[in-house]
Amino acid sequence: MQLQSTLPINADAVLAWYDAHARNLPWRVSPQDRRKGIKPDPYRVWLSEVMLQQTTVAAVGKFFARFTSLWPTVFDLAAAPLAAVLVEWAGLGYYARARNLHACAVAVAEQHGGVFPQTSAGLQALPGIGAYTSAAIAAICFDERIAVLDGNLDRVLARYCALEVPVREAKEELRAALQVAVPERAGDFAQAMMDLGATICTPRVAVCMLCPLQPGCLATRTANPTAFPIKPEKAERPVRYGHAFVLRDAAGDVYLETRPDKGLLAKMTQTPTSEWTGAVAAPCYPAKGDWRHHGHVIHIFTHFRLELDIWSADVADISGLDRGWWADPAALGGEALPTLFRKVLAAAGLD
Ligand code: ADE
Repeated sequence: MQLQSTLPINADAVLAWYDAHARNLPWRVSPQDRRKGIKPDPYRVWLSEVMLQQTTVAAVGKFFARFTSLWPTVFDLAAAPLAAVLVEWAGLGYYARARNLHACAVAVAEQHGGVFPQTSAGLQALPGIGAYTSAAIAAICFDERIAVLDGNLDRVLARYCALEVPVREAKEELRAALQVAVPERAGDFAQAMMDLGATICTPRVAVCMLCPLQPGCLATRTANPTAFPIKPEKAERPVRYGHAFVLRDAAGDVYLETRPDKGLLAKMTQTPTSEWTGAVAAPCYPAKGDWRHHGHVIHIFTHFRLELDIWSADVADISGLDRGWWADPAALGGEALPTLFRKVLAAAGLD
């Protein structure tokens, strides 16, 4: 497919805009400091990029601060137990990222003497680092002249070219159009394009009058620039149903378990649940008690929507409950509970 636009992407205009408007982010070295020769710390950039996959800058802030204060270097993170990393990751979602994060820290510490590889190809050989993350780290830290293309950039470029098909049908053309524009200041350019996508050319609003790419942009000449990118036909998200059980013992402690080693939310903490299936089934309670129903919790996973009926009971006989542990409700913050199970506990009046 031939991409249309009146002008090539003007990297000089984008960089001039960035010099004046760069966001101040905790892992970022400002363009002014970059000019003075100050270099970003690859550990912090890598950590931020892994956290920012599927998560907004606003949501990542406090997690980034906590991780870097607990584990200021890649050696510290590599030496931490995986369980501690999962506890701190709880709430960020997509927990495979936390397991890969830890595996990557171990690989950098043990196989690379604590020094991140300096090319996108070298970075991609590490656990959990794919095409996007390797390009972002290589550009931001080492000014590798490589296109850094994420969902925000897809949107900016689809608008720039008034792309007439959904992005996924023109991924390589968009990448090529961006690649030819990457200037010597590749790291600042990548971050400038990210900031444009986050502040000017946002999903619902495009503030074209403030955009350095406006002169060449085709979408801004249409009545509705935010109609781009064109959305693909959406497949319905399937629904799964199940039950979650909140058990309290005589002391008021709540029963928790570790999820299986593999699969969704692997090794995270949960309350007991039924299987999650395509049809509503009657609850099969895990212990004798006076079970109360607390309505249901809905949670959206990438590939399905989950509807869990929530039940709670005080249980007198806890003898069969030996796979998990009893936790003080006041200390649930220290458990590796994913958001779904925090919602379950909240629905039952805990957390
Ligand atoms: N989104 C993903 N990576 C980012 C970065 N390095 N700066 C700003 N926003 C981002």
